[in-house]
Amino acid sequence: MAGALPDGEPVPADGSLPSSATRHVGKNGFAVYVHVPFCASRCGYCDFNTYTAGELGTGVSREEYADTVLAELRLAQKTINPGKVDTVFVGGGTPTLLAADDLGRILDGIDAAWGLAPDAEITTEANPESVDPHYLRTLRRHGFTRISLGMQSAAPAVLRILDRKHTAGRAPQAAVEAREAGFEHVNLDLIYGTPGETADDFASSLRTVVDAGVDHVSAYALIVEDGTRMAARMRRGELPYPSDDVAADRYLAAEAALSAAGFSWYEVSNWATSEQARCRHNLLYWTGADWWGLGPGAHSHVGGVRWWNVKHPAAYAKRLAAGVSPGHGRELLGDADRHVEDVMLRVRLREGIALDRVDPLGAKQALANGLLEPAAYESGQLVLTLRGRLLADAVIRDVV
Ligand SMILES: C[S@@+](CC[C@H](N)C(=O)[O-])C[C@H]1O[C@@H](n2cnc3c(N)ncnc32)[C@H](O)[C@@H]1O
Ligand code: SF4
Repeated sequence: MAGALPDGEPVPADGSLPSSATRHVGKNGFAVYVHVPFCASRCGYCDFNTYTAGELGTGVSREEYADTVLAELRLAQKTINPGKVDTVFVGGGTPTLLAADDLGRILDGIDAAWGLAPDAEITTEANPESVDPHYLRTLRRHGFTRISLGMQSAAPAVLRILDRKHTAGRAPQAAVEAREAGFEHVNLDLIYGTPGETADDFASSLRTVVDAGVDHVSAYALIVEDGTRMAARMRRGELPYPSDDVAADRYLAAEAALSAAGFSWYEVSNWATSEQARCRHNLLYWTGADWWGLGPGAHSHVGGVRWWNVKHPAAYAKRLAAGVSPGHGRELLGDADRHVEDVMLRVRLREGIALDRVDPLGAKQALANGLLEPAAYESGQLVLTLRGRLLADAVIRDVV
């Protein structure tokens, strides 16, 4: 995300889409993503499109951000009518740096524009140190149903290497506060394989998420992104690079601890305590639904057209102030592109993908290598084994 955006073909000034794309909008579900590009400080490993106050420069204020997003929404409303919105996900950055009432105003705007489904899932990401019980209650009052907290680790030394600003105890405490505020669905994000993290450190992170009583856990292997402070430290030899073997051990530890505590995986990096606890928004992404991404750098997909907004918040605000679409570029996905994308996303799901949609020789080889569930294979479905989940990228390369 830190690199330049591709150009693609230009987006028309009014953001309009070909009628072939909008004709069946929302037929497989419709999701709205809202990007909030602000953070109090930048974590050394993170290359998301987010800015600290010092990095932001002039022409953008957090106080005006909700109004800028609402201006994009007004343009979007003229472009498509999906009938209803199944899920909203406010991500960042740190959405909870905005006033809870601003997040509520954005949600009201989405409801007014397109209508929230009565059972809509409405998530916001939050940094543990940026919320308190009052803030969480206000989010609930505005209609948020789910919160995703970036915990990353329970080990103080690991949090320091990751440049996190919260204490080890703050994330589980925020999760408890969220439940007390009335959030039925609470996620904690973990990162594993950070240099310096021991097996005991990660075991303690897993115990902490289980004890916090959340219904969802995302666990990601640390990715060293080019251009980050962490990548520079590794290049200078100040930190070792993460090891694939260690990451695999940590993944197995996560599966063992989480399944013993009543969680089941439903995507390679995601576990939930029940089907209702799964993140419906991400499932819509992974199963080819339409979505509109509001905010700088946000990506959207409607009926095979994918587009992305200008990246900098100042450029985004300037476009909208002039009444012009913030779309920077777009591409029309052909059948072959859509097929590749579908395979890449569905192979990672517990439900898997029908064998007749993948390369038969690749699938046969993956089965012989113990990477696919034999019973599912017999009934015509490709489903990863635990070993297959460790090697999901290789399976995808072989079967796409
Ligand atoms: C947009 S961020 C999270 C929300 C919030 N700003 C926070 O940090 O608490 C979403 C999640 O992506 C994961 N993430 C970000 N950069 C990563 C990286 N380089 N490697 C692995 N996971 C990463 C983290 O687990 C993080 O919580
Ligand atoms: S991980 Fe979260 S808090 Fe840290 S810089 Fe990235 S978006 Fe901001």
